[in-house]
Amino acid sequence: MRTNPQPTPAPLDAATPAWQGRATARALMGEDPALRTAYRLCRRTTRTHDPAIHAIIQLMPAVLRPACWALWATASVLDDLADQPDVEPAQRAARVEAWTKALKHDLAVGTSTDPIRYALVDAARRWRLDLSSLEGAMARTRDDAHGLRFADWAALRAWSNEEIVPWVEQVRQMFEQAGAPMTLRLDRHADYEDFVAGAQLTDLLTDLSTDLDQGRLLVPLEALEPFPGAEADLAQRRWSPAVAALIAELTAQARRRVTRPAMTRGMHPGVATVLDTAAELMRLQLDAIDAAGPALLKRPPRPSVAARARVLVPARLRSILAWSLTSLTVPDPRPSVVDVNGPGLADDGTGLRPPPPHREGARPPRIAADRMPSHVAIIMDGNGRWAEQRGLPRREGHRVGTAAAHEMVFGALEIGLRHLTLYAFSNENWKRDTEEVTAIFDGVRRELDEGPLRDLDVRQRWSGRPDRLPEELVHAIRREEHRTRNRTGLTLTICLDYGGREEITRTAAALAQAARAGEIDPHLIGPDDFARHLPHPDMPDVDLLWRTGNEQRTSNFLPWHAAYAELYFTPDYWPDTDRRDLWQAITEYGRRQRRHGAAPAPLLPPNTTGRLPDAQPDARH
Ligand code: IPE
Ligand code: IPE
Ligand code: MG
Repeated sequence: MRTNPQPTPAPLDAATPAWQGRATARALMGEDPALRTAYRLCRRTTRTHDPAIHAIIQLMPAVLRPACWALWATASVLDDLADQPDVEPAQRAARVEAWTKALKHDLAVGTSTDPIRYALVDAARRWRLDLSSLEGAMARTRDDAHGLRFADWAALRAWSNEEIVPWVEQVRQMFEQAGAPMTLRLDRHADYEDFVAGAQLTDLLTDLSTDLDQGRLLVPLEALEPFPGAEADLAQRRWSPAVAALIAELTAQARRRVTRPAMTRGMHPGVATVLDTAAELMRLQLDAIDAAGPALLKRPPRPSVAARARVLVPARLRSILAWSLTSLTVPDPRPSVVDVNGPGLADDGTGLRPPPPHREGARPPRIAADRMPSHVAIIMDGNGRWAEQRGLPRREGHRVGTAAAHEMVFGALEIGLRHLTLYAFSNENWKRDTEEVTAIFDGVRRELDEGPLRDLDVRQRWSGRPDRLPEELVHAIRREEHRTRNRTGLTLTICLDYGGREEITRTAAALAQAARAGEIDPHLIGPDDFARHLPHPDMPDVDLLWRTGNEQRTSNFLPWHAAYAELYFTPDYWPDTDRRDLWQAITEYGRRQRRHGAAPAPLLPPNTTGRLPDAQPDARH
C-alpha cells in the first residue's frame, strides 16, 4: 500500500459555492495558469464541436464542468483525428493511436505538453477517474477511421455502447463522487438504453451531410430496407420521396426513444434536469432536422437561438435551484502518478513503484558497467526559446520542460544511473522578470507537492542558496529531502539558486572558519579537505556534463565537481528532449576515452574495437 501522504488538495472544497457561477476559475481549475488555459481550450472545443453538449454541461454543478469539458474535448479531438478529410484511413488510425498512447503516457507521468491532455490528466487526478475504461472506446474510434457500416439496429447500438457510453460513464462516476448519484432504478435500464440509442440516432441524422461528404452512411441497412432507392438517392444527394420518408421515419423513431419521462423519476433533481434538458434539446434538434428538408443533405441543421433559449433559460434556473440545495463533496485528488499499466506494475510493498514506460515503449541500451557514468549533470537549457518559437509565454517552456525533467529521471532509473543533477535556476537567473522567476519557483513547488517522482526510488536533494528562495518553498524542499532520505535508487540533486562560484566561496569561508577555530591547519589544506567542506560532501565528481539548447558553455554549473567531466552539447531545446536523449548521451560517454592526465592507452587492433557499447536500437541518432 502506498504510505506517502496525499498531496495537498487543490482549493476545491465543499464549502465553495461551486454550484453557482460565483466560484472562481482558480477554485475550479487550479492555481496553474497553464492549466486554466488548458481547461478553457477544452470548453471552447466542446462548444464549437457540440453546442448542445456544452449547454448541458452548463447545467451541471460548476465543480464538475472543467472535467466534463476535458472529457468532451478529448472525445472531439479523437473524433476529428479519425474523420480527417483528405487523410488516408491508415494514417488517420495511426494518429488516433498515437494520441491515445500519448495520453496513456501523460497519465503515467502526471502532466502533458498537449493542453487537452493536460486538462484531462488533471481532471482524472482530481476526480480519481479510472480512464482505463475509455481505452476500448478509443480503440473503436481508431478502427472507425477505416470506415463504418451497420447491418442492423443492434449493431449500431453495440457500437454506441462501446464507443459512446464509456464517456458518459465517466461523468456518471463524477456525479457519484460528488455525492449526487445518477442512479437509475433497476426497472428503468431499458429506458436508459433507448434514450442513448435515440441520442445516437439524433446525432447520426444531424451529421448526415458531413458523413455523406466523407462517403459514409451510418443509417443501418435494416432501416434502409423499407425505403427502396433511398440509399442511392442519399449517395447522389437527391431529396427524393424515398429519402424524405426515410428521414421522417427516423426522426419519429428518435423522438420516441428520447422521450422517456419515467427515466428520471426519483433521481436527484439536478441530475434529472440535466437529462430532461438533454432530451428537450434533442427534440428541438429533431424539429430542426424535420424542418430542414433538402438542406439536411447540405449542412447540419441547428435549432434557432430563440428556441434553444426557451429550453435552456428555465432549465438553468431549475438547475441552480436544485444544486443550491445539495452540498457536494469533492474528493481529495490522488497523486498524479496513475497506474495505467494494471496491477502488475503497482507497488511492491515498499511503497515505491518503477518508472512509467517510455511513451513509445523505448527501452534503455545495454551499457557495460565500466562504461557507465556514476554522475550525470544536466544544464537544461532552451525552455525560453522553445516557448518563444511557438509564440507562447516563456513560462510555458518551463512548464513543458518539467515533463522533460521527469523523463530524465525515469530514464536514469531505467538505465541504472546513481546520480543525476539538474540545473533548474542559477544565481544569475534572478536577472529575469519577476513573472518568469515566479513561474519557475511555482513549477518546483508543484513538483514537490504532487509531482510524479514521489513514489519512485529517488532520493531528492537540493543544492544552492536557500536564503533568497520563498520560505515555503524551502520548507517543502526540506520536507521532501527528509521524506526520501533513505531511498537508494537514484540520487537526484536539483540545483536551485545555484552558482558554482558562490558554492566555492561558501566552502572557502567554511574552511577559513575551521582554520580559525583551530580544527584544520591552513598550511596543510588540500583538495580533499576542500571537498569535505562542500555543501554536499558526498556528491561524486561529475562524469558527464550535458547541456541542451545549442549553447557551449557551462554557465557557472558545478565547477568543482565537473573539473574533469566529459562535456556533451546538443542542439535540441530542453522541452523537446526525453529519456532517449539521456541514453544517447550515456552511450556517447561510453565511447569517450578518459585519461585524467595519463598517456593515451595503446591503440587496439581493429577487430577489438567492437568492445565498445553496441549500436543501440532504441537510443536516438
Ligand atoms: C533554461 O532555459 C531554464 C532556466 C534557465 C530556468 P532558458 O529559460 O534559459 O531558455 P532559453 O535559453 O532562454 O531558451
Ligand atoms: C543556465 O542556463 C542555467 C540553467 C539552465 C538553470 P541560462 O540560460 O541561464 O545560461 P546562460 O545565460 O545561457 O549562460
Ligand atoms: Mg538559457
